[in-house]
This record gives sequence, structure tokens and C-alpha cells, in this order.
Amino acid sequence: MKIAVLPGDGIGPEIIAQALRVLDVLKAEGLPIETETGLIGGCAVDATGVPLPDATLKLALEADAVLLGAVGGPKYDTLPREQRPERGLLKIRKEMNVFANLRPAILYPELANASSLKPEVVAGLDIMIIRELVGDIYFGEPRGIEVRNGEKVGFNTMIYSESEIRRIAHVAFKTAQKRSKKLCSVDKMNVLESTQLWRDVVTEVAAEYPDVELSHMLVDNAAMQLVKNPKQFDVMVTGNIFGDILSDEASMLTGSIGMLPSASLDANGKGLYEPIHGSAPDIAGKGLANPLATILSVAMMLRYTFNQDAAADRIEAAVKSVLAQGLRTADIYEDGATRVGTVEMGDAVIKALTA
Ligand code: NAI
Ligand code: MG
Repeated sequence: MKIAVLPGDGIGPEIIAQALRVLDVLKAEGLPIETETGLIGGCAVDATGVPLPDATLKLALEADAVLLGAVGGPKYDTLPREQRPERGLLKIRKEMNVFANLRPAILYPELANASSLKPEVVAGLDIMIIRELVGDIYFGEPRGIEVRNGEKVGFNTMIYSESEIRRIAHVAFKTAQKRSKKLCSVDKMNVLESTQLWRDVVTEVAAEYPDVELSHMLVDNAAMQLVKNPKQFDVMVTGNIFGDILSDEASMLTGSIGMLPSASLDANGKGLYEPIHGSAPDIAGKGLANPLATILSVAMMLRYTFNQDAAADRIEAAVKSVLAQGLRTADIYEDGATRVGTVEMGDAVIKALTA
């Protein structure tokens, strides 16, 4: 089990340190885990001049899985686009071809009051959003800013091929088969051709999964339905840009960005695992960051890349246990709870895991 560990910037190193303690426990119990650390993002720019050094890319491509913290920070905001930390992230996703981004949005009962929606709307929420991650308008050519008819125009290309849509559709239907057998595909086919093709191909793939009930929804309505009645959804599948927006929206239903993990998978189960939040420069270096999203990303890694469901279940149970004990980092703190820092939260997870 070769894992490339890329802590990145800001709170990245702090939260990754706690996730590594979880891996250490499993290793001590006998799982053949090997980790190697690399540079990505702003720290890589500082050390090498580029956000994704060749050595890091090689490490990632040779590993079975990558565990990533977060990249970026104000110090790097004035860099040219090619050198920005976020470019390193887009590039590693593309090079690893991790096209299937799985973002579960689960509301833990202990955090019911942390959601901005009414408890009756969100209680029991458990959605899986599947976002296509390496295509769409984020990568389409041509793109740029140029002068036309005496003024500047900015342009990007929204593009999907049949094969790109088909492979993410299969992931979505298979995921739905393992859950409630309900899949909602989100597009904007009423105005965008690339998403008309999306709808056509998803509909065609559905014929291979007669046990899954497929519905289609336009993205603007989906955004509304997610806050109106989120529990109508189980698995959702959509393209890169709609998925980016809808998954952030869905994550907020569950209380804190510090709770949400993600898995980005290629066709062979190799994956890139990261919390969905960024480098949180406002709290970096203060020991305040919530490490649970990253620890839950380790659970997803064990489940999806290494088929270690029992270990993944144990990590998730340990997280539930620390929440049930009333331990809260600042982002999920409420009156009456016990406020803890990053390391103390890690201590509690390790204790629950080894109890
Ligand atoms: P952010 O997700 O870093 O922070 C948003 C807010 O959530 C902040 O108030 C932060 O303190 C809080 N927060 C985030 N993670 C937390 C955690 N684990 N525990 C407690 N609180 C947490 O988003 P922001 O501020 O827009 O971006 C900061 C930097 O991160 C930027 O440079 C941005 O480009 C980068 N970024 C990187 C991502 C990645 O590496 N995947 C994703 C999003 C942003
Ligand atoms: Mg986003």
C-alpha cells in the first residue's frame, strides 16, 4: 500500500500530521502501509519554482494512492497563473486521470445544529455527489483573453466527449447500485449542447443498469432543490463546473467544511484523497484546524483504493465516537461542547481507534 503524502500549504501540514497518525495505527496492526512525502503548491513554488515538481508527479504516479492536504495562500496570489499553487492541483488531477470525484455530504446527528438549514430539512442527510473532474470548461480549448473588434474578450470552451461522459456515468450507476438505486444526473441541456450530449449518453448508459432509477434535472433547479429538499437526492452525477458548485453547496448543508472528505478515482481504483477545504490561511499555524475531513479522507482511501472496508468503518466509527463525546474544534463548536485543537482532536481519534 504505497501512499504519496503531499501536505501542501497553510493548515495542510497540521491536518495531514493527524491523518498520518491514523495510518500509523493501522500499520502497527499489520497493514503493509508505506508513505513517502512530497511537495505541492506554494511550498513547492518556494523550493523549486513550480507548483508541481516532476519529483512529486513521479511519486504520485508510482503510488497506489495520494493523500493531499491543501494548497495556496495569500503569499502566492500575485504569481503568474502558471505558477499558482492551484495549478499544481489541477495538473496532478489531470496527470493521474482521476476523473471521478466522489464527495459525500453526510450530516452527523451530533452536528445537527451546525447546519444552516432547519433540522427537519437536513436530519439524516446522506448524499453522494459525483463530479467529473478532468474535463469540461476547466480544461477545454480554446481558452484565453484576446482583443477582438477593438475590445478584450475572455473565452473558455465547454466540451465533453462521449467516452468521458460514459466512464463517469458508469461510476455513478455502480455507486447508485450500492446505495438506494436512485441516480439524478444534472445538466443544462436546454441551452448548452455539451450537456445535451451529457444527457443523451447518461440515458444510453442507463440501459445497462435497469435496477437503477435515473432522473435528470437542470442545474439551476438542482441548486434550488438542494436547499429546499436535499433528502430527495441520493447519488447525483454532473460535469466538472456544475459539480464544483453543487458539491460546495451540498457540503454546507452538513455544518462545516472541516468535516468533508473526498475521493478522486481513476479507472483502476487508484485515487487522490483530500479534504474539500482549502489551506485556511486565517487559522494556519494556530493548531485550530479540524483534522476530521482529512482523517475521513483516509477512510475513503482504505475503502476505495485498498478495499479495506473494515478499517474504513473503524475510522468512521472513531470519528463518530469523538463527536459523541462532545469534542469540537472551533469550526463545529457549540455551547456545552468541549473545545479542542487539531492535535487534541487527533489524540481523541487515535484513542477511539485503539480502544
Ligand atoms: P478555505 O477552505 O481554505 O477556508 C474557508 C474558511 O473555512 C476559512 O474561514 C477557514 O478557516 C475555514 N476552514 C477551512 N478548513 C477548515 C478546517 N479544516 N478546520 C476549520 N476551519 C476550516 O477557503 P479559502 O479561504 O477560500 O481559500 C484559502 C486558500 O486555499 C486559497 O489560496 C485557495 O485558493 C486555496 N484553496 C485550496 C483548495 C485545495 O487545496 N483543494 C480548495 C479551496 C481553496
Ligand atoms: Mg470548489
